[in-house]
Amino acid sequence: DVRPILIVNGIVVDAHSESKKQILIIDGKIAKVAHTIDDYPKGTKVIDAARLYVMPGGIDVHTHFNIDAGFTRSIDDFYTGTRSAACGGTTMVIDHMGFGPKGCNLHHQLSVYKDYAGDNAVIDYSFHGVIQHVNDEILAEMASMVEEEGISSFKLYLTYGYKLDDDSVLRALTQLNKVNALTTVHPENDAAIALRRTQLLEAGKTAPKYHAISRPLECEAEAIGRMINLARLADNAPLYIVHLSNGLGLDYIRLARQNKQPVWAETCPQYLLLDERCYERDDALKFILSPPLRPTAEREKLWQGLMDGSIDTVATDHCSFTYHEQKQRGKDNFSACPNGMPGVETRMPLLFSEGVMAGRITPSRFVELTSYMPAKLFGLYPQKGSFDIGADADIVLFDPKENVTVTHDLLHDNTDYTPFESIESHGWPVMTLSRGNVVACMGEFMGKAGNGRFVHRKPFSTQHVSTSEFSTEQTSAHHGGEKE
Ligand code: URP
Ligand code: ZN
Ligand code: ZN
Ligand code: ZN
Repeated sequence: DVRPILIVNGIVVDAHSESKKQILIIDGKIAKVAHTIDDYPKGTKVIDAARLYVMPGGIDVHTHFNIDAGFTRSIDDFYTGTRSAACGGTTMVIDHMGFGPKGCNLHHQLSVYKDYAGDNAVIDYSFHGVIQHVNDEILAEMASMVEEEGISSFKLYLTYGYKLDDDSVLRALTQLNKVNALTTVHPENDAAIALRRTQLLEAGKTAPKYHAISRPLECEAEAIGRMINLARLADNAPLYIVHLSNGLGLDYIRLARQNKQPVWAETCPQYLLLDERCYERDDALKFILSPPLRPTAEREKLWQGLMDGSIDTVATDHCSFTYHEQKQRGKDNFSACPNGMPGVETRMPLLFSEGVMAGRITPSRFVELTSYMPAKLFGLYPQKGSFDIGADADIVLFDPKENVTVTHDLLHDNTDYTPFESIESHGWPVMTLSRGNVVACMGEFMGKAGNGRFVHRKPFSTQHVSTSEFSTEQTSAHHGGEKE
């Protein structure tokens, strides 16, 4: 549909303000935002957004679609994954390229992933590079990945099959900093986890619940502290901590930011809404992911971080496997279970419900966490994450009064469960537009495979992310305790 669109009567929210305004979309871009727009072209389609919030579409910077987990592959590919995202109000994903064949270079995985996504994605997408080893070739490739390919963030894993040692981490951080890329990290202490895992398995403690006991929060917090110091050593390289799950790790991040170190943090809905009690359930396998769900008290500490500005983004880590087949691999041995859970469709509603409707964050802060900061940190702003003139018309219409009991039947992914089954969501996305095309409406998918485009991202710059956004004191003054 190439007709211009005028959205009227809605409450337009961006990261800085909310007010009743109209938005005119022409050729898939924001053409005008004003109190009243009279001079719209003939044939314009009018969308009535009365009683709805009109917000920049969600950007989920942490997904693993179609990932090769060795013995199996995640069950959502770029079609079902982005379809599910679109129905949940998300208009862009930055997926994590998985590990390729041993010794492969950075460009190899990029071409593999462009093939995965090309004919399948229904919304726009990019990828994070993955550093599976460090040598001169890899270090030399980093510059062209950023400048020519538009890949300006790279992931390091401190655990799993291709964990990096400190020497490789330092060399990667230094070079990525030099070429204006953001280093992101999965921080867990691999040796501490391996020791506990061996001891548990030897003692016959193989049930799913021992997964969490094998990797306690200190393993994560230690690796966060270590990465913060390695980043300082690497000429104060910018650092982004993914899937933060606990308060001790958050304290290390706060300390670094008080010292004006460029460190940012992401958390995920599962760490805000669920906790280790899920491992006592008969279907505990559904909740095997890393880092694992934590003691109940950690949830409130993470909410505090969202409220005081010391956590910057909420992403999902969507990495889905079927419960009835793939997850059963861990039935008699937690260490054999594929790690990860679905969530790309429920991120926006659940954060809105538990954040905005529960009075913890404002609608603007919601936009900041789900769209604006993701866009700023990952080189997409203001094309994404804003309603600036000329920005992509990636928009979600949110109904704060639509109460939905989450159940997997409502969702559009390719797995067979949701970890959030039977949670009541106050508020739900009722329409999603991707570059001016309606891709989801009232729970109905309306997009098309292949309509999503690869987005060439800009290099990382701390200037794009203003200093107030990495100073805890200033952001808390800005956001602290604001309520409806
Ligand atoms: O358990 C998880 N989270 N699996 C996905 C890969 C990762 O660690 O992010
Ligand atoms: Zn703000
Ligand atoms: Zn991870
Ligand atoms: Zn992940």
